[in-house]
Amino acid sequence: MQNVYAMRPEVRAEFAEVRARLAGDTAFLTRLERFYTELRDPLVALYGDDPRFPAQLAALLDAMAASAAARDPELRRLDHEREITPDWLQREQAVGYVCYADRFGGTLAGVRERLAYLRELGVTYLHLMPLLRARPEPNDGGYAVADYGAVEPALGTMDDLRELARELRAHGMALCVDVVLNHTAREHAWAQAALAGDPGKLAYYRTFADRTEPDAYERTLPDVFPDIAPRSFTWEPQLERWVWTTFNAYQWDLDYTNPEVFRATAEVVLGLAGAGVDVLRLDAVPFLWKRLGTDCQNQPEVHQILQALRAMARIAAPAVGFKAEAIVAPAQLVTYLGTGRHEGKECDLAYNNVLMALLWSALASGRVALMTRVLATMPAVPAGAGWVTYVRCHDDIGWTITPEDAAAVGEDAHLHRRFLADFYAGDFPGTFARGARFQVDAASGEARTSGTTASLAGLEAALAGGEPVALELAVRRILILHAVAFAHGGLPLIYMGDELGLRNDLAWAEEPHHAADNRWMHRPRMDWAAAERRSVPGTVEAALWDGLRRLIGARIRTRATHAQGAGEPLWTGNDHVYGLVRTFAGERLLVLASFSAEEQRVPRALAGDHGLALTDASAAPDGRPLRIAGDEIVLAPYQLLWAAG
Ligand code: GLC
Repeated sequence: MQNVYAMRPEVRAEFAEVRARLAGDTAFLTRLERFYTELRDPLVALYGDDPRFPAQLAALLDAMAASAAARDPELRRLDHEREITPDWLQREQAVGYVCYADRFGGTLAGVRERLAYLRELGVTYLHLMPLLRARPEPNDGGYAVADYGAVEPALGTMDDLRELARELRAHGMALCVDVVLNHTAREHAWAQAALAGDPGKLAYYRTFADRTEPDAYERTLPDVFPDIAPRSFTWEPQLERWVWTTFNAYQWDLDYTNPEVFRATAEVVLGLAGAGVDVLRLDAVPFLWKRLGTDCQNQPEVHQILQALRAMARIAAPAVGFKAEAIVAPAQLVTYLGTGRHEGKECDLAYNNVLMALLWSALASGRVALMTRVLATMPAVPAGAGWVTYVRCHDDIGWTITPEDAAAVGEDAHLHRRFLADFYAGDFPGTFARGARFQVDAASGEARTSGTTASLAGLEAALAGGEPVALELAVRRILILHAVAFAHGGLPLIYMGDELGLRNDLAWAEEPHHAADNRWMHRPRMDWAAAERRSVPGTVEAALWDGLRRLIGARIRTRATHAQGAGEPLWTGNDHVYGLVRTFAGERLLVLASFSAEEQRVPRALAGDHGLALTDASAAPDGRPLRIAGDEIVLAPYQLLWAAG
């Protein structure tokens, strides 16, 4: 191999042995040599002193070679295609959709039958929420996996998953599937073996004979679900031990200090890659490593685990991308995309939860100063990676607004967070939102928020009130949120039903085992009758569907929305109008987005200053005409202007 990638002498000696033992085609062996250091270095740092490590590394390498050898010819072509198109997840054409397979199509075969709908919308990426075999309900919406090697029987089989991936691929769409690495269900075979007395499997989990260590950890551990599942440890009578359970009591945290656990979960990743999954959503990754005296999130070892997994995938299945689910503050968030000397070595994508929360903050307050300030100070996206941008997801909205950011725009962080929780729970004078509080903090009165995009943006209230103006404003609010997410740069995701304005599921609490978790209110079943109305002019569904299609159209024609472009919020001089300028590959995009229900004005020079002209085309993604009055641009309520050139 070219000496630019020459290995350190001690690694070369080690590699020579590996190379002599492993068989594979030229492509695999070339990748193995290229990425071997990136695979072994983090693992040696994590486990080098552990006597169990050499055998686990050898087993992992064998599994990688076997998985590469068994790789379907179509997937090999994809490996090659993505090696020569490493920005495939960052490109302007990448637009995604997220749904629960059962709530969208009934089964995986049912999802396949609905692909025409997604093609019509224009998406190129489908994230299906957890679909591996989970414990029986309650199972946290499938995030309590009982078998990583099987699909949930009610949804279908592994063959159905392969078939779905194949069909998506045939239509140029990528499939994203969750892989839950932090915990398994108590019903998983590993946990069951531990319960039956197998010490090897007990060592897969973090368990404690008494409260000494749990108490010590809990002094600095935040509570993820203080209402539904308080604290982080669960007494297991069968073991007569405390089990670490960050989330629900039935979700047992894996112990990544055990190299066997790394090897076992790495094989789960290889299995999904082999089934044709394109992108793995790495659930709850910040929690993988625990350290006494910390919040047990974002520990350096988490990044070493991710780097090793990434190198493994690059060697065995390079077509596969990684998406980090890390709902953490900007400085930590960006590290999941690989920063500094880890550039390009971690995840391809990470959820921009900061943008999501800010969009809703701007919508409630009608003011964009906070969003402008925070986005302007957000760390830049490292080379080779990109954000996932989104308006809503299946989880709650956490109001992560820091005192420093709030103070910079003359706000009080606590009061603003409290305002947002109240506003979106429908408890603030004049609010248009119909959501609910999630996990209220009794001391501060602050809370996270549940609710569908449509209900939070005023559609539910407007339909109940029957006021055409309120209805129009609600539709416009939904579209302006998406417009900023689509323009921001990164892979935008549409959450199922938002394209039709699906409201909160009023019967969410009636389903067995859901009553305690109001996130189910914003996970409605797909309403296919509403979907039919997308082609009936004058309906809310048609207005949203057409509006989103216009946005998707604008986005895929605008190179400046490429995730690797440079983006800078633009202060428009009007606190109700958000401005954004992006550049990529010599192309520029200026977006003006009104977050106000009133007419707003901004200087016309804003466009000219960036070498762009506002034309009728700038108004096309919004659909309403461009209005210029003298030196000013006049924006209609929640109007979007999009000028690219
Ligand atoms: C992630 C999921 C969330 C789940 C948690 C535990 O944050 O998005 O829905 O409750 O992980 O698996």
